[in-house]
Amino acid sequence: MTLTGEDFTNNGRLLAWVDGAADLCKPDHIHWCDGSQEEYDRLCREMVEAGTLIKLNEQKRPDSYLARSDPYDVARVEDRTFICTEKAEDAGPTNNWADPSEMNHTLSGLFDGCMRGRTMYVCPFSMGPPGSPLSRIGVQITDSPYAVVNLRIMTRMGGRVLAALGARDFVRCLHSLGAPLQPGQKDVPWPCNESKYIVHFPKFRQVWSFGSGYGGNALLGKKCFALRIASAMARDEGWMAEHMLIVGLESPEGEKTYIAAAFPSACGKTNLAMLVPPAGFDGWKVYTVGDDIAWLKPGIEGGLRAINPETGFFGVAPGTSMASNPTAMRTLTRNCFFTNVALTDDGDVWWEGMDDDPPAHAIDWRGNDWTPESDSPAAHPNARFTAPASQCPSIDPDWEAPQGVPISAFIFGGRLSTTFPLVFQSFDWTHGVYLAATMGSEATAAAVGQAAIRRDPMAMLPFCGYNMADYWHHWLKMGNDIAQPPLIFRVNWFRKDENGKFMWPGFGDNLRVLKWIVDCVHNRAERVESPLGFMPRHQDLNWQGMDYDAETFYRLMAVDRQAGMAEAEDQKELFGRFGDRLPRELETQRRRLIKRLDRAPPVWELERQ
Ligand code: GTP
Ligand code: SPV
Ligand code: MN
Repeated sequence: MTLTGEDFTNNGRLLAWVDGAADLCKPDHIHWCDGSQEEYDRLCREMVEAGTLIKLNEQKRPDSYLARSDPYDVARVEDRTFICTEKAEDAGPTNNWADPSEMNHTLSGLFDGCMRGRTMYVCPFSMGPPGSPLSRIGVQITDSPYAVVNLRIMTRMGGRVLAALGARDFVRCLHSLGAPLQPGQKDVPWPCNESKYIVHFPKFRQVWSFGSGYGGNALLGKKCFALRIASAMARDEGWMAEHMLIVGLESPEGEKTYIAAAFPSACGKTNLAMLVPPAGFDGWKVYTVGDDIAWLKPGIEGGLRAINPETGFFGVAPGTSMASNPTAMRTLTRNCFFTNVALTDDGDVWWEGMDDDPPAHAIDWRGNDWTPESDSPAAHPNARFTAPASQCPSIDPDWEAPQGVPISAFIFGGRLSTTFPLVFQSFDWTHGVYLAATMGSEATAAAVGQAAIRRDPMAMLPFCGYNMADYWHHWLKMGNDIAQPPLIFRVNWFRKDENGKFMWPGFGDNLRVLKWIVDCVHNRAERVESPLGFMPRHQDLNWQGMDYDAETFYRLMAVDRQAGMAEAEDQKELFGRFGDRLPRELETQRRRLIKRLDRAPPVWELERQ
C-alpha cells in the first residue's frame, strides 16, 4: 500500500507545499520519510545496488558506508550561494544578493521537471531537542537518498517530528540534484548538475538548493537553515544562531563551565569540542555538546543558554587521527558515512594524516588505484565523515537538555600566523564584539608576514543570512539585554615563528588556555592589560606536564605595534563597506585600539609589565 501525505499529517500548509513541489519537480514517486531504521537500511541497500554507496568491511567498520562524489561536487559553493531580500542592502555587502522575483523565475525554470525518473523524499526534521523552546522544525524535500540518510544522522528526522509540528508553520527546504532521468536512462553514482544554486529567502523562511549533493549544499538543516535562515529568525525573535562549537569543562573539584567558540571552517572546532586533557590535567574532564552550530537564548538566570541544534558531526576527515583527535576516531567506529576518503584493500577507509602508515595500495576518492607514490592525495582535502553525536565518547550528559547549557564565555579564533597572540580577553562586551567582528583567517598558507587575511566576522562570513552590520547591531543589543553576558576572548593557535613553525603545540594543550579562561569566568584569574586586551602572564597558566619557558611564551604573546597599526588600518576597509549601517561603537573601538598602540612600545611584551 502506498501512503500519501494525509497518512502522515493534516498540516494543510505542509500538504499544500508538498503538492506544489511535486507539481513543479514532477518526480516518479513521492515518499514520506518516517525516519525508521528499516527505511534507512532500505535506502542504504538501494544506494549500494545503484553504486552510490560502498558498504565497508562489516568486521572493521560495522554499518558504515563510503560515498564518492562527482569530482566537481566536493564542497560548499559560496559563489553560488544567494540571499534574496527585497532590497540589496538587507543582504549586505558580504552576501551575494539576488532579486527575489527574478530568482523565483530562475528557480521555477530550474526545478521544472528536475526530479523526473526519481523519487521525491519528504523529510520532516527538528533542529534542537524535542520540547526545547529553542528548537525549530523544518521539512526538506529532496531527490537525493544520500541526503536523506545523512539528514537522519545530522538531525532528528522522521514522522515523530510531524506530531510536534501540529498545524504550525515550518522552514521550507527544497533540494534537487538537478539530474532528471529520461525513461530507460541509466543513473550515475553521484548525480548532480554543473549549474548550482543555493538560495535563501530569509523573510519566507525558505531554502531552494539545486545541483549539488554535497555537505552543506544538500543537508539543508545545517548551514542553510541552522545558520542563514536561523540567523534571520534569531534577529527577529531575540536569540542567536552561531557557527560555534559548545564544550563543557569540568575541574577535578567538579565545577563545570561551558564555553562556545567560533572558528572559521576547517580551523579546529571539532578538535576543540572533543579536546583530550594533556598531561598535568588529571581529573579534568571535557564534554562535547556540539562541534559546528550553537543556538543561544537568554535564560531565566540572566545569562545565555545554548543548544546544539544538530545530532551528528559532519567533520573534516583528513588530519583526524588517534593523535590529533582520538575522541573523533572512537566516534567513527560504526554507523557512519565517509564521503571522498580512500578505500583500503580490506574494505576500510583511510585518509591523509590518519596514521603514519599509509596503505601500500588503496582506491582514491576518485575511484582510481592509489599508492603512497601517487601524485595526488588518496582522500579529498574536504573529505568528510557523518557520525552520530550519541556515539561520541565525550558527549555531554546534558547535550540534549531542552533548556540548553549555560554559556560563560565566547572564544573567537582564526588561523593567523602573525600578529595575533595566543589569547587575550576583551575589556568588555562591546570590545569583544569588535574583536569578533574584525576576526580574520588566512585563506592559504602564504609566506610568513604576507599572509592574505580574509575577514571572517564571528566565523559567520558565509553564513549570516542578512546584512552583517545589522548582525553586529544584534550582537551589541544582546549584550545590553543580558544581565550577565558571557566573557569574550580571542585566541590564536596558529602563530608561527620566523622559521614558519607553529609556536604553540595546540590540540590538548589548548586546555591550558581554556583553564585560564575558566578562571576568568570564576573571577579568580590574574590578568595584565595589554594594548589588545587582558592577558595571562606565564605564571597564570598551568604548565604541569609541559615545558614551555616564559621567554617563548612572551614571544607568543607579544604585540608588535606596527603590525597592530597595520591591522587596525586594514579593518577600515571592512567597516567602510557598511557605510551608515556600521554600528558606531565598532569604529570607536578601532580608534581606541590605535590610541593604545600609539602609547605602546614598538614591541609590547608581558615580561616588561
Ligand atoms: P568545519 O566543520 O568546516 O566548520 O570546521 P572545523 O572548525 O570543525 O574544522 P576542523 O576541526 O576539522 O579543523 C581541523 C584543522 O584544524 C586541521 O587542519 C587541524 O590540524 C587544525 N587544528 C585544530 N586544532 C589545532 C590546534 O590546536 N593547532 C593547530 N596548529 N592546528 C589545529
Ligand atoms: C563548513 O564548511 O563550515 C562545514 C561543512 O561545517 S558544510 O556542512 O559542508 O558546510
Ligand atoms: Mn562549519
